Amino acid sequence: MSRAPACPIPEPLARALADARSIVVLTGAGVSAESGVPTFRDAQTGLWAKFDPFELATPRAFARQPGLVWDWYAERRAAVARALPNPGHRALVAIEGRAPSFLLATQNVDGLHHRAGSRSIVELHGSLARVRCSREDREVAAWDEPAPGEPPRCPDCGAFLRPDVVWFEEALPAAAIERAEAAARACDLMIVAGTSAEVHPAAALPWLARAAGATIVEINPSATPLTRHADHALRERSGVALPAWVASAWPASAAPDAAGGGAK
Ligand code: APR
Repeated sequence: MSRAPACPIPEPLARALADARSIVVLTGAGVSAESGVPTFRDAQTGLWAKFDPFELATPRAFARQPGLVWDWYAERRAAVARALPNPGHRALVAIEGRAPSFLLATQNVDGLHHRAGSRSIVELHGSLARVRCSREDREVAAWDEPAPGEPPRCPDCGAFLRPDVVWFEEALPAAAIERAEAAARACDLMIVAGTSAEVHPAAALPWLARAAGATIVEINPSATPLTRHADHALRERSGVALPAWVASAWPASAAPDAAGGGAK
């Protein structure tokens, strides 16, 4: 008796991936779940349990308690540094290597797509790996040891430094969202993986693609507001479904990349 595949992929879905000319992928926190990165909502353990992440990740919180917000992000940065890309991240690298046109639009700030080897990425919500001046909005690479309880200060203007992430109540970087929207309108396949598809404006990207006639495929173990509007919904973890999909689209060559390959 042969074993059933971990995640059976219908033939039309395999073909949709192999034949796509232009692919856009939208990812969210679920893609990093199998790397052990706590989601934004789950990150409140230990000392941080008494704080509400929706209160910490705002410009108001930073204005009131800059040291607290800086320390919270330092903790998240350390947690991400301990994590490793998973087979879902690597399968997206394999897809990028085969698609004629490809863009990965991620809401994740953990940098794991970069570390897996994805290259054509737009980070819609910024990155924990970068720090910028809160006054001049310039990226800053080095700074002096801060005073206790404060964030470090900009070496040029003395304002507090902050993580280069998008907080609630802040606009997304215009160039990032415009690039993702243009790609969504022009793609023929949109993959939506590991996102609750509820936080705008990223959540609108699949709708732009759908209105332009693209095939929409969702990968998520749970239903989202997008699920019933998608052409296919794989109710599976992305670390299982994405490698299985790659292997079914390119049976001869894809498996090693999808299962264990690293950077291109
Ligand atoms: N594989 C795929 N999907 C998964 C997995 C997995 N292994 N585990 C969980 N999920 C799904 C959940 O079912 C959920 O729908 O991932 C989704 C995660 O949803 P959210 O936590 O809302 O994350 P996201 O959609 O990225 O949130 C968007 O909101 O939290 C803010 O700014 C933060 O960028 C974030 C934005």
